[in-house]
Amino acid sequence: MAIDYLRLSLTDRCNLNCIYCTPLEKNRFLAHEEVLTHEETARAARAFVKAGVRKIRLTGGEPLIKKDITRLVGMLKVIQGLEELALTTNGIYISEMADGLRAAGLDRVNISIDTLKKEKFKMITGSDGFDAVWRGIEKSLKAGFKAVKLNVILMKGINDDEIADFARLSVDYPLTVRFIEFFPTNKRSASLTGALIRTEEVKKRIEASFGALSEAAPVESGGPARGYTLAGARGGLGFISGRSDNFCCACNRVRMDCSGKIYPCLFAGATHDLRPLLRGTADDAALSEYVKGLFLVKSKYNKTSTHAGHIEMSSIGG
Ligand code: GTP
Ligand code: 5AD
Repeated sequence: MAIDYLRLSLTDRCNLNCIYCTPLEKNRFLAHEEVLTHEETARAARAFVKAGVRKIRLTGGEPLIKKDITRLVGMLKVIQGLEELALTTNGIYISEMADGLRAAGLDRVNISIDTLKKEKFKMITGSDGFDAVWRGIEKSLKAGFKAVKLNVILMKGINDDEIADFARLSVDYPLTVRFIEFFPTNKRSASLTGALIRTEEVKKRIEASFGALSEAAPVESGGPARGYTLAGARGGLGFISGRSDNFCCACNRVRMDCSGKIYPCLFAGATHDLRPLLRGTADDAALSEYVKGLFLVKSKYNKTSTHAGHIEMSSIGG
């Protein structure tokens, strides 16, 4: 599988404290000098594009708390050969930033939102930010992005009563609602292991309320989501089934964290580090050769089980 998708985590910090994500242990955040500058990040991104990457997604932590992210978007957008620049955010700051990000060249946004109820939002995230996120979704729909997607992690007994409400959003709005199978990643999320609801069950519940789902054509470089539509809908539905499916053989992505560490597989840990090259004497050609070398060995890191190992989603960004 050609590697054409880079997920770039811009910060290990987040402004929410979600029950399935934020570590229980006191976080050791990276020191300022350990984190790549925008210039270093853009140079790394150019090396990845030279090695074959066509799509970059900015993640975090929460990428919108990264200082001057709009300037970075502009720096990435002009990379020759890059076809798509996207962002995954918790949505707290997107309403104020959507127009600027779009103008700087951001093509798409995915917004994580696990409930449509204010009180429950506070329980899940530790924040009163529901209204801000909802405003951000409405604003993103008006900002001219090529697509707006919502990421919903379903947890039994917590938000599975809202499956139909989320599905209805795809009827009423031109957005894609994606239901994600929860997978335990760290000590905190381990306590939610029993909260998994499999995609098959979610589909059944949606069909009971809305009738048959029609499968949508797969999107090129679309990641692990499988798309569907409801009759008469303005938008679509997607299912990301990290527990029920094993997408290793179709995996087209690598991840780099904000300090330059590279994760060839979400579950394999960081095996390579670009920062010494970025801060040393390596020229651009050497950087892209290094990245190409990593692409050649990526498949050996693919896990046969998609839920093994300990990972901090709060710093690698999913
Ligand atoms: P699109 O470009 O819109 O398809 O986005 P995306 O699904 O690639 O990115 P997003 O950041 O919205 O991620 C959505 C969910 O997919 C998150 O829960 C990720 O953890 C999950 N995900 C992304 N890549 C992988 C992967 O390689 N393995 C597994 N198990 N889950 C993944
Ligand atoms: N299981 C599944 N998805 C997760 N995400 C974060 N933690 C988990 C987990 N344990 C998702 C977020 C966000 C995306 C980047 O990763 O909800 O949408």
